[in-house]
Amino acid sequence: MMEKTYKETKMDSNIHIFETPEQTAHAVAELILATAKEKNKLSLPFNVALSGGNTPKLLFTILANEYADSIPWHFVRLFWVDERCMPPTHAESNFGMTYESLLKNVPIHDSNIFRMLGEVDSEKEAKRYQTLLEAQLPLKNGLPRFDLILLGMGDDGHTASIFPNNMSLLHSDSAVAVSTHPVSGQKRITLTGNIINNAEKVVFLITGSSKSSVLQQIIHRKQSFKDFPTSYIHAHSLPADFYLDKAAAMEL
Ligand code: 6PG
Repeated sequence: MMEKTYKETKMDSNIHIFETPEQTAHAVAELILATAKEKNKLSLPFNVALSGGNTPKLLFTILANEYADSIPWHFVRLFWVDERCMPPTHAESNFGMTYESLLKNVPIHDSNIFRMLGEVDSEKEAKRYQTLLEAQLPLKNGLPRFDLILLGMGDDGHTASIFPNNMSLLHSDSAVAVSTHPVSGQKRITLTGNIINNAEKVVFLITGSSKSSVLQQIIHRKQSFKDFPTSYIHAHSLPADFYLDKAAAMEL
């Protein structure tokens, strides 16, 4: 296992703060390694849902460069938290980014990769993905249960593709739904609140000063916190872990 050469500041047991985005991503990589090994020991698959956007690129690159040999990839099964409705070759595809930064560089088998298809009819794809999750994952509380869901947070407090103008997706009866980005109008496919909160572990990886104001409202339950989808996950998952760099945490 990699030696930890950096200092973690803990605000409380679920908030982990590191000096830099690199150190923050390394800490999440260590968590993924440890959980994958635990599952491996028990001969259980490790079912993970990944987010897209910019922040996880660094984590994926670190996983590819430093963990290609140590993570038991044959036990890891990858799913997606959300996808932009476009082909996997498009620059904005979450799968495309993950493929380029991680998947093509580690020994994971194609049959362990369950991507959301951004290139087909979005409503049909949301239904297909829901059926797939029900078939591939253990059920708890009548819902598919991931071992780990990796989330990010937008500057507007959105998480997955659940935006502040569509908070009803937090309580949707469907595990997977279609949403629309409030500014660009881009269609997305996304996991909804109930399935996210049903996961064994929910981890937010959030870096950068542009997130700091919204983050402090969410963590301290102040001001407009109720308007941010991330607050709901923070309050209802059991309990979510936040991996933050100093810049994102500066107002906490
Ligand atoms: C996406 C996401 C989304 C993301 C946040 C943060 O497809 O964009 O999965 O929920 O995690 O928007 O994105 P950044 O890391 O780019 O700030």
